[in-house]
Amino acid sequence: MDQIVIQGGNRLSGEIRISGAKNAALPLMAASLLSAEPLTLTNLPRLADISTMSKLLEQHGVSVLEVDDGKSGMTMTFDAGGVDNTVAPYDLVRRMRASVLVLGPLVARFGEAKVSLPGGCAIGTRPVDLHIRGLEQLGAEIELEGGYMTARAPNGLIGSKFVFPFVSVGATENLMMAACLARGETVLTNAAREPEVTDLAHCLVAMGAKIDGIGSDTLTIQGVTSLHAAQHPVVCDRIEAGTYAMAAAITGGELELTGVSPGLLDAAFKMLGEAGLEIEDTPTGTRVSLGSGGLKGIDVMTEPFPGFPTDLQAQVMALMSVADGAAMITETIFENRFMHVPELSRMGANVNVHGASAMVRGVDHLTGAEVMATDLRASSSLIIAALAARGETVIRRVYHLDRGYERIEEKLGACGAVIERVQET
Ligand code: UD1
Repeated sequence: MDQIVIQGGNRLSGEIRISGAKNAALPLMAASLLSAEPLTLTNLPRLADISTMSKLLEQHGVSVLEVDDGKSGMTMTFDAGGVDNTVAPYDLVRRMRASVLVLGPLVARFGEAKVSLPGGCAIGTRPVDLHIRGLEQLGAEIELEGGYMTARAPNGLIGSKFVFPFVSVGATENLMMAACLARGETVLTNAAREPEVTDLAHCLVAMGAKIDGIGSDTLTIQGVTSLHAAQHPVVCDRIEAGTYAMAAAITGGELELTGVSPGLLDAAFKMLGEAGLEIEDTPTGTRVSLGSGGLKGIDVMTEPFPGFPTDLQAQVMALMSVADGAAMITETIFENRFMHVPELSRMGANVNVHGASAMVRGVDHLTGAEVMATDLRASSSLIIAALAARGETVIRRVYHLDRGYERIEEKLGACGAVIERVQET
């Protein structure tokens, strides 16, 4: 198993190209199942989760063609004209919860789907009840048996109204995709507005779907009988951009993040600005540096978009661990997303968790240690901490990182970080 070894204390400086967003790419790939004609996606990141979704689609009978110039994002064409299997097996679904996104497209187009329940997850129980209730509202009959969800709609789905009791990114995506092929109108209220949901909506429209209210919390979808071929570029990864912004700041450095679309990180950048970061738009992206006043403790609460993203909570905790003063970090989306706290504490961070909030008291410096990555974003918080720590940090279980950060050691290494990937002995 690989591990990442970082010698801390080097100032980051240079340019990093931000990749296409994993969380946009996965639902976009699932959307290819909605049409018998090919969907071409550009700016795809090279990540383990993208390979897992490709494998899942291939076993459904989708043919996948990949073009990779090794430089910018990958281009992949998904042709679901020959789908011959509507079962998503446990072995693939357990590896990646987003596999559940094939449920809506499969039942909408083929009238049946059998998808494994995703099972446990490190950052909370993460049920799929909203996906199920929403599809039932569109007329699907769903049975849970033997660890699988079996959905049937032999005469097709029927447009309906569904009010999300709370915001769910995945359930919004699943229902929006399914509703595109349902008969009549579907109205989704209290829908997620994350940029990745919006990106999916734009792609569906390019495929011939009729969706109103894109970017708002109410999506109105007029069903059509079929969708057609399209090409779509994947939106940039705002979580990757936010992570590198914090990596720059904790080292007192300066990074130019290219390819960041404006507006995707407004809430996060506003808060990071209060914490002492200087952030400005450039013609090609965003420049981030630490202001002369240094890092200051700020309070952060995670919220659905346009609030501060839960996927940057672990990273901001690493940043706050060496800020001047205290920071209160409150997690409102997931019930168990402080798994990085004991690891950061091993590096000298002063963090006390009380329920959904963590009080972080800034310390003078962190110290390198052997730590373990527990989930994807927790791993990147350990990288941020290690870049600033005195001495060497060894991060184990980096397969989590490979699910969501494209070539992280190359990108950071090119900007002055002393970072290498080594085989665990
Ligand atoms: C997506 C992102 C993930 C991000 C999260 C919140 C992808 C592939 N993953 O995950 O990186 O952290 O949004 O921004 O895009 N819930 C239920 N029942 C459901 C569905 C969700 O109770 O049927 C709960 C979850 O347990 C969680 C909350 O709702 O507490 C939000 O989850 P959701 O927005 O659905 O997250 P994902 O789509 O899984």
